[in-house]
Amino acid sequence: MTIIEAKGISQSFNSGQKTIKVLNNIDISIKRGEMIAIMGVSGSGKSTLLHILGLLNRPDSGSLSFLGNSIDFSNENLLAKIRNKHIGFVFQFYSLIGELTIEENIGLPSMISGLKPEKDRIGIIMNLVGLSLDKMSRFPSTLSGGELQRVALARALINNPDIVIADEPTANLDKASSIDIVNNMKNINSQANQTFIIATHNKDVATRCHRTLYLSGGKLGEKT
Ligand SMILES: Nc1ncnc2c1ncn2[C@@H]1O[C@H](COP(=O)(O)OP(=O)(O)OP(=O)(O)O)[C@@H](O)[C@H]1O
Ligand SMILES: [Mg+2]
Repeated sequence: MTIIEAKGISQSFNSGQKTIKVLNNIDISIKRGEMIAIMGVSGSGKSTLLHILGLLNRPDSGSLSFLGNSIDFSNENLLAKIRNKHIGFVFQFYSLIGELTIEENIGLPSMISGLKPEKDRIGIIMNLVGLSLDKMSRFPSTLSGGELQRVALARALINNPDIVIADEPTANLDKASSIDIVNNMKNINSQANQTFIIATHNKDVATRCHRTLYLSGGKLGEKT
C-alpha cells in the first residue's frame, strides 16, 4: 500500500539576485513499512524535501497524496491534524523545549492531541530508543547531543505515527551510537510496520535502509 505519493514537486528559493531551483519536478512513491534513506550533499535539498513530505511546507508546484487522500496545502488546520496523528518528526536541530523536562518533551505530541501522556508509555519508548529512565525528569540542557537526538526520536514515536520523518538523526552521534540508533529504528520499523524516511550523510544508516534515494541538481535518483 502506498502511503505517500508525490508528483512533480518543485521548490525554488531566492538567494540574492538569483533563484535556485532546489527541487525540480520530483516524483516519489513510498510504501507503508518502507525505510528509505535520502542522501545528497549539503544544500542539495534533503530538508526541503522532508518538510514537504511531512506536510510542513507547501511546494511551489506538484501534488501529494497521503494515505490515499489528496492533500490540500492551503488547509493548515487539517494539515496540523494529519501531522499530529500520522507523522512523527525528528528535526535536524532537535527542536526540544528547554523549559520542559525530557518526559514532558517526549509527551508533547500526545498533549497536543488531547491525551495525557502515560508515564508507562514514555518509559517504553525511552527504552526503545536507548535512553535510560533516570533522564526523565532532567532538562534538555543537561543532556549530550546524542541523548537529545534519542529524546527527539522518542517524541516522534509517542503518538505511534504511520510515518517517521527524520532529518539527520545521527548527526551528533559517534559510529557505534549511530549504528545503535538506526538499528533501533529498524526494529521499530519491522515490528510496528512504521514507515521511516531518513535524510542522512551517514552510510552506516543508509545501508540499513531498504533503499536509498539521492538528491542532486534538483533531481531524485535511485541508487543503482
Ligand atoms: N527558507 C529558505 N529560504 C531560502 N533558501 C532556503 C530556504 N530553505 C532552504 N534554502 C536553500 O535551499 C537549499 C537546500 O537546503 P536544504 O536545507 O534543503 O539542504 P540539505 O540537503 O538539507 O542540506 P544539509 O545536508 O546541510 O542539511 C540550500 O541552498 C538552502 O540555502
Ligand atoms: Mg538538511
